Amino acid sequence: MNVFWAPSGELPKEASSPEEISRFVVEAAVHAPSVNNTQPWWFSTGDHEVSVHADVERRLRIADPDGREMMISCGAALFTARVALRYLGFVPKVHILPDPDLPNLVARIGYSGDQTPTVDYERQLFAEVPRRRTHRGGFDAEPLPAGLISALRDEASREKATLRIMAEEGQRGALAAVVEAADYALRLDAARVREQSRWAPPPGSPRRDGVPPTAYPARPDRTEPSFPSRDFAHGHGWGLPPSGMGTVPRSAGVVAVLTTSADRPDDWVNAGQALQRVLLLASSSGATAALHSQPLEVTELRGFIAAVLCDGAYPQMVVRLGTTGQASVSVRRRVDEVLL
Ligand SMILES: Cc1cc2nc3c(=O)[nH]c(=O)nc-3n(C[C@H](O)[C@H](O)[C@H](O)COP(=O)(O)O)c2cc1C
Repeated sequence: MNVFWAPSGELPKEASSPEEISRFVVEAAVHAPSVNNTQPWWFSTGDHEVSVHADVERRLRIADPDGREMMISCGAALFTARVALRYLGFVPKVHILPDPDLPNLVARIGYSGDQTPTVDYERQLFAEVPRRRTHRGGFDAEPLPAGLISALRDEASREKATLRIMAEEGQRGALAAVVEAADYALRLDAARVREQSRWAPPPGSPRRDGVPPTAYPARPDRTEPSFPSRDFAHGHGWGLPPSGMGTVPRSAGVVAVLTTSADRPDDWVNAGQALQRVLLLASSSGATAALHSQPLEVTELRGFIAAVLCDGAYPQMVVRLGTTGQASVSVRRRVDEVLL
């Protein structure tokens, strides 16, 4: 019955009773990334079981009509729950979308009493759960550690997804142009702007969801090629002070598209698991990621990325990876609000 609650901002290190284990797992899972930090999930527990549910009230009705991004977010929470169980030494048994009559039951994660020792790799991923943050802007010029990209591709394929690196200048330029076109299109759509601004609280807000001004720069760096960030401040000038880099364009980093071979809800959940797996390993190597889902919310542009840059596979996320000294701070709802 011994739980050691680590200092704030870190995760507890131990849990033994079923209640403590559930709480431990959910405490970790809520750190997962989610579209606009909607945190579209809730959790329930049973006998040696934790379930992840999609909270459809938190789905972006205009940007995400099919719930694809909601399911990716829940998949990221699912992978984080698995990491937490492995950290405790349990062997998670995952059933994705186990009940056709309950489409919002994303996954049941069972764990038996048998435990196997946690290996260093699992401890490393667990340590990154509260540290990992989404970056918005450019990266330092330094290359990523040798071997990291191929390791990240392996991580994605373990979750039935593919991390496609846009290695050629032409591919990077084309993808940047599509992100830019999407960003313009979204800014011209009043209903979408309203929807996004509902998830972008002002400075000092007590809210524990949405993207706070501590999570993005007031004036994002220009990258080469240019990958614009979403306009969370919607003209208010909110955000972190400039990094001091001035007008010199910064690196866009290593640019990749995460894809799946089909486009059903279980593929979206797997894409979310792959995304979080990639992000946690990158973070453990000192790299950070910027995410761009703007073009994937516009059917025609998503189709273009699939056909021209991804051999017809289904794009689920545009990811840029690099290193940066800039830190962003995000928020999360409390475990009591999501563990029902
Ligand atoms: C499906 C999905 C789509 C996302 N799209 C974007 C995006 O277009 N732009 C962006 O800056 N961040 C994007 N993010 C990152 C979220 O905004 C971020 O995870 C959330 O604000 C929580 O912050 P954190 O990742 O720093 O913990 C996306 C995340 C997910 C899971």
